[in-house]
Amino acid sequence: MKNIAIFASGNGTNAERIVKYFIGNSRVDVVLILSNMPNAGVLMRAKKLGIETVVFNRNTFYNTNDVVEILENNNTDLIVLAGFLWLVPDNLLNNYRDRILNIHPALLPKYGGKGMFGHHVHEAVIGAGEKMSGITIHYVNEKYDDGQIVFQKKLDVLPDDTLDSLASRIHKLEYEFYPKVIEEVMAGL
Ligand code: GAR
Repeated sequence: MKNIAIFASGNGTNAERIVKYFIGNSRVDVVLILSNMPNAGVLMRAKKLGIETVVFNRNTFYNTNDVVEILENNNTDLIVLAGFLWLVPDNLLNNYRDRILNIHPALLPKYGGKGMFGHHVHEAVIGAGEKMSGITIHYVNEKYDDGQIVFQKKLDVLPDDTLDSLASRIHKLEYEFYPKVIEEVMAGL
């Protein structure tokens, strides 16, 4: 059995889809959901799904090895970021080199970087008059949205798209492809 730990800062709809996708899978298990936000919706979802949760603060994350130890104690093989908004520190990167995935709601390398998350991304895409957007799944390194790209899927930005309509179609793509790409990456571990 290979184990996944999901990091999320917000609502956690992707995290929920990933957990559900692997229920009953004999090779892959989601063992832990971690968050930097004590009131994040993802924690309520995790509770309903019966997944153990961990909440950490900035000091714990950046100045101690506690999170790495928790991951190791849970035999984590792959870390999946699903709407997680903090830069990943070196101790985590060094222990999980090429074993941390992120999803970004645009076609990197455009519309990535610090502050580019959720609706900010869609606002920038629509504001620039882009005809295409999409999703990017990539390995995580020491910079925001910068690691090696594993998978991209495009969609058309429609002339009457609003932030919400674009976000909703992007989310659908994420739900469809993120679990599958995670499964493929896990198969190669
Ligand atoms: C997702 O759309 C994800 O791509 C994005 O946050 C959303 C989380 O939604 N991530 C980023 O913008 C990272 N830069 P969710 O909490 O409902 O899964």
